[in-house]
Amino acid sequence: ATASLTIDPAFEVGEVNPRLFGSFVEHLGRCVYSGIYEPDHPTATPDGLRGDVVALIAELGVTAVRYPGGNFVSGYRWEDGVGEQRPRRLDPAWSTVETNEFGLNEFMRFAEVAGVEPIMAINLGTRGPQEARELLEYCNHPGGTAWSDWRRSHGVEQPHGIGLWCLGNELDGPWQMGHKTAEEYGRVAAEAARVMRMTDPGLRLVACGSSNSSMPTFGSWEATVLEHTYRHVDHISCHAYYEEVDGDVDSFLASAQDMEHFIDSVVATADHVRAKLRQSKRIELSFDEWNVWYRRQRDLDAEPKWEVAPRLLEDNYTLTDAVVVGSLLVTLLRHCDRVTVACLAQLVNVIGPIMTEPGGPAWRQTSFYPFADAARHGRGRVLRVEPRSAQHDTAEHGTVDLLHTTAVQAEDGTVTVFAVNRATDRPLELTADVRAAGLGRVVGASTLADQDRHARNTREAPDRVRPGPLEGVTVDGGSLSATLPPLSWNVIRLG
Ligand code: AHR
Repeated sequence: ATASLTIDPAFEVGEVNPRLFGSFVEHLGRCVYSGIYEPDHPTATPDGLRGDVVALIAELGVTAVRYPGGNFVSGYRWEDGVGEQRPRRLDPAWSTVETNEFGLNEFMRFAEVAGVEPIMAINLGTRGPQEARELLEYCNHPGGTAWSDWRRSHGVEQPHGIGLWCLGNELDGPWQMGHKTAEEYGRVAAEAARVMRMTDPGLRLVACGSSNSSMPTFGSWEATVLEHTYRHVDHISCHAYYEEVDGDVDSFLASAQDMEHFIDSVVATADHVRAKLRQSKRIELSFDEWNVWYRRQRDLDAEPKWEVAPRLLEDNYTLTDAVVVGSLLVTLLRHCDRVTVACLAQLVNVIGPIMTEPGGPAWRQTSFYPFADAARHGRGRVLRVEPRSAQHDTAEHGTVDLLHTTAVQAEDGTVTVFAVNRATDRPLELTADVRAAGLGRVVGASTLADQDRHARNTREAPDRVRPGPLEGVTVDGGSLSATLPPLSWNVIRLG
């Protein structure tokens, strides 16, 4: 099978916002406790953070982290997680007990140590604009008021200065505490946004969009919410999780088709509201939860066990899952003109690229690698590469290209091609016309592929799947040639 593309710096999609490489930490399972935070761990920092995990986060290249949920935030009292008194509370979202040992200021310390920007989510499920405003005043006001002085009394003299806030989480979902209609949510989100901006005018705010593109309210939810919030927010959120169903690997590998459709639909809806309201600014998309996810573990009818930090949603990803993660990254990059925030959900243990054992090691899942590649080399300008590719049929997504690709030009002129071969049974012969870009040399080429598409990394074999060199890549007379292995994620860097 063959595929081709053209790399011409004259044709650009847009500049990549570094926030595209965000992730997500929720008080869920072991994402916080024995994930990022474990004071007794041999590698623990003075703040109780896991040093081994912080090092892997740096290697992963995460730029921003959304916190503290997720479904959890829709029942959360942020006051429980600051100061001396840390009440143990039931978390009805995940049927667990939250000790509140880790809270807002611990998270902000984590963000500082890990070098990531915090993205704060507020509770608009069981709470409202008043509590959101108080939280904001606690976080961002310098001092001299009850809330800001309360922060200072907790040893945090300087304001946190958190700039990006999510107005609730998945409030279109019947599973959400405080689930709302689009009208109800649109009103409360607009009022929360207004009162927050009156407190701190510089904030960037994210309104909740749909929990996935199959929601019965998809499309109309965004339209109604934006009619209420357009003037007060900057972003609308998108969430999407994908899984292989009944061994239909071809459909699974084409999951990005759904993400494309999701993004196109939300952009169209937001622009429709823009026209209707005669607004000039464009709403940007915050794809603040995306990943592959199998273990849903949310049986609300089951008897709750009320455990502290149990093992929940601990998916162990395969090579196939990693290739899908790479393909979803390609889609986010291809839409970087409108998707300016994205969060791989989640960061550690809970559907995470990083896994840990309490008291033991931390290691990289297969999905770690495409994210690390994209976060490292997907900086600069995304180019419009107009690929042409052999195709195949899928049950879920119709006829799709075998090649899924994008290219990013860095400031120094280097171009990185990210390329997925969706064929499980054959290599893809890739050629690219690189004359216009004046590229003549292969700076590096790697591939993530395996004879066994179900291969995974585990505690016992943490390096079973890792990238290797992509051999035989050439640039000759302005033409790039490469052979992409079956079912693979590839990174080709040209200078
Ligand atoms: O990331 C896991 C869960 O997925 C989040 O809590 C929720 O927002 C979404 O449904």
